[in-house]
Parts: sequence; C-alpha cells; structure tokens
Amino acid sequence: MDSDKLPRHVAIIMDGNGRWAKRQNLPRPQGHMEGVNRVEEIIVAARQAGIAVLTLYAFSTENWTRPQEEVTMLMRLFIRVLGQKAKDLHANGVRIRFIGRRELIPEEVLRVMDASAQLTAGNTGMTLNVAFNYGARAEIVDAVRAVGKAALAGGFNLDTLDEEQFSRFLYTQEQPEVDLLIRTSGEFRISNFLLWQISYAELYFTPKFWPEFTKEEFQAALQEFAGRQRRYGGI
Ligand code: IPE
Ligand code: IPE
Ligand code: MG
Repeated sequence: MDSDKLPRHVAIIMDGNGRWAKRQNLPRPQGHMEGVNRVEEIIVAARQAGIAVLTLYAFSTENWTRPQEEVTMLMRLFIRVLGQKAKDLHANGVRIRFIGRRELIPEEVLRVMDASAQLTAGNTGMTLNVAFNYGARAEIVDAVRAVGKAALAGGFNLDTLDEEQFSRFLYTQEQPEVDLLIRTSGEFRISNFLLWQISYAELYFTPKFWPEFTKEEFQAALQEFAGRQRRYGGI
C-alpha cells in the first residue's frame, strides 16, 4: 500500500467481547480472553503495515459501573497479559504507553503498567497507546488543569494559547492526530473515546465482534481508508 494512503495513527474501540461469547453460549470472560488473541494479532498486523501509532481502548472510565466480578476479571486478565507480553513487544521495538487516569486503578495493575512502559520507553518502532481508565472528557479536563498550572507557573501566555499548544497537554502529547478510528460490534457511537484527536478522523464501523476482528479485517479497514478522500473542509 502507498505510504501516503496509510494512516499514521489508528485508534480502535474493541467492542463486542460479551456478545460474541453470549452468541455461542459461553460466559463473558471467554469473550474477553478471545479478545486478547485479537489484540496480539492486530498489534503485529499494525506493526507490519507500518502504522506509527496504534491506540486501543481497553477500559473506559465508564466500565467501572460493570458488575464487580467482571471488573475484577478484567483487571486480572490485564495483569496476566501485560506481564506475559511486554517482553515480546519490547523485542519487537514497540513502545507501550498508557493513557487515562491512574486514580481507581488497583496498585497491582499500576505496577505492571509502569514496568512495561519503562521497559519499552526507549523503543522507536510503533507506539502502542493502551487506553485504560480512559475517558475523553476526563482527558480534556486534565489538559485544562495542566494548562492552567503551566500558565500560573509562567510557562506561557494564555492569550496566545492555540490548538497545537493545547493538544500537547493531552495524554497523547506530541503524537499525530487519529487518521482512522475503527469500532467493532455494530455500534455507531464513540463512547467517550479521543474526542479531541478524532476531529478529522475517518470512521470505520464493522458489525464483527472484537473476537472476530482478524488481521484480514484490519487490512480491509486499511484498504477502505486508502480509498477515502479527505478534504478537511476544502474542496
Ligand atoms: C469490549 O467488549 C471490552 C471492554 C469494554 C472491556 P464488551 O465487554 O463491551 O462486550 P459487549 O459490548 O458487552 O458485547
Ligand atoms: C467502549 O465499549 C469501551 C471499550 C471498548 C473499552 P463499551 O462497551 O464500554 O461502550 P458502550 O457501553 O457500548 O458505549
Ligand atoms: Mg461493549
């Protein structure tokens, strides 16, 4: 694929694990476990395609409202998978970052997050943002707080604050904006994901549940993106 037709930043709302499991009379955790297999597959596919930044929505600020046993199960799965896979990702030059609020995240989860981020911090291959306890509105509020603090500390003049400067206070900092946003499971909504960064993203919705989103499905999304005409308000 032409590199100018390739998105630099792809973001994915990985949805439908529970319904995938339910459809085959399996308990919801089975859906999450199968979803992890697709996460691995899509990270490899994105790296091979030459994507610069991949952002995966793993747990939202709203997901704490799920039944306690599902939340606990997801936390345990996250610890296990991250503990097992960080070395592989590191060997492949992937830089892992976490976006979201640290508050509410259990200590044990924070430990594996910090360890994998530190291990891979110097890597220059693909950047993998894992959105965990992430909410886009919380991100914007956090950015406003940080801007205010910097201005008070004499960092810069608020009167000349522009979009480019503001965006550097977001969790994604200097990263390019999202070019392609994918959502699986047939839902047509954003669910509080990357509101600022998707302003001009191309949207791709598929009825496939996340556990069915194979590398071929990912490649189909990239193909579709390559055929889109982006006008940015021009003609
Ligand atoms: C996405 O699948 C995974 C997370 C939000 C953690 P869901 O768990 O939302 O699956 P559905 O939408 O209930 O099918
Ligand atoms: C969005 O999926 C969050 C993640 C994929 C982590 P949800 O299943 O939580 O979103 P809603 O409830 O359908 O909006
Ligand atoms: Mg869902």
